[in-house]
Amino acid sequence: MLLIETISDLQNKLEQAHRANQTIGLVPTMGALHEGHLSLIKRARKENDLCVVSVFVNPTQFNNAEDLEKYPRTLEQDLQLVSDYADIVFAPSVEEVYRVPATEQYDFGPVAEVMEGPARPGHFNGVGIIVKRLFDWVQPTRAYFGEKDFQQIAVIKTLVRQCGLNLQIVPCPIVREASGLALSSRNRRLTEEERATAANIYRILKASTQLKTTNTQEIRKFVEDEISKYDLFRLEYYEIVDDETLQPVADLNDSNGVVGCITVWANQVRLIDNIRYK
Ligand code: PAJ
Repeated sequence: MLLIETISDLQNKLEQAHRANQTIGLVPTMGALHEGHLSLIKRARKENDLCVVSVFVNPTQFNNAEDLEKYPRTLEQDLQLVSDYADIVFAPSVEEVYRVPATEQYDFGPVAEVMEGPARPGHFNGVGIIVKRLFDWVQPTRAYFGEKDFQQIAVIKTLVRQCGLNLQIVPCPIVREASGLALSSRNRRLTEEERATAANIYRILKASTQLKTTNTQEIRKFVEDEISKYDLFRLEYYEIVDDETLQPVADLNDSNGVVGCITVWANQVRLIDNIRYK
C-alpha cells in the first residue's frame, strides 16, 4: 500500500494504470475509518484491478465550524485498517486540495433541495466540489458510496450525469453495530450510555416498517412520537421519500422504491440513518 499526499504524485502513479487499461475503484472518505468504510474498500478491491482510498476531511462541506474542528482525525489507525485492501491511500492536505480555490457552484436540482439540503446549507456543494475533483484526479472506473448517506448518492449520481462523467457509481449497504446503530465516525463522540440509547433509532425505524398503514403521514407520526420518548434525542427531520427523486411520497403505494431518512441529534452529535419500506 502506498500513501500519497500530492495530486501530482497521485496522477503520476495512476498514469501507468490508465495506460495499461487497468480498472480503478475509488472510495472517497473523510477518515476515522470503520467497518462501514471497510466494506466499500473491500468491494472496490474485489471489483477492480486497483483500489484507491481517499482520506480527506473536506472543509467546504462542513456548514458548522465546531463539527469540522471536532471531526476525528486518525490517519495512522486508518492506514493500518486499510493496509490489506487499498493499493493507494490518497491523503492530501487542505492546501493541496484547495490550491485552486473552491469557487465551483453546482446546482443539483430537487435531489439536493430536501432533507440535508436545507438542513446543511452549502453541504452538497462542498461534497460536489471534492468528489468532482477526486474524480478528475483519479479517473476511476467505479466509485463506491455507502447507502448510509442515501441522499449523497443521489446527489453524486446527478453530478456524474450533469458533468457527463464516464464512471459507475456503486451504492453499498449500510453496515451496523450488533445493536443496530449505523456505524459512523461521529459515534466516537457518544458516551457508552448515549451509544446504547442511539440504537433505538434503528429499532424505531424497523418497527415503522411493520405498521399496517401505507399512509406516510401516519408512519412519520409513529417515528416522531417514538423518538420524542428519549430525552437524549432531538429529531431534525424524518422524511419518507422516493428512492430516486428523493421527493416525499404520501403513500407507500405511490412509488416503486421508498426510503425513510432520519436525522437525529443525540446531544451535540448529529446522527443519520435510513430504512427502506419497499
Ligand atoms: P464519510 O462520512 O467518511 O463516508 C465515506 C463513505 O463511507 C460514504 O460513502 C459513506 O456513505 C460510507 N459509510 C459511512 N458509514 C457507513 C456505514 N455504516 N455503512 C456503509 N457505508 C458507510 O461521506 C463522506 O465521508 C464524504 O461526504 C465524502 C463522500 C468522502 C466527500 O468528502
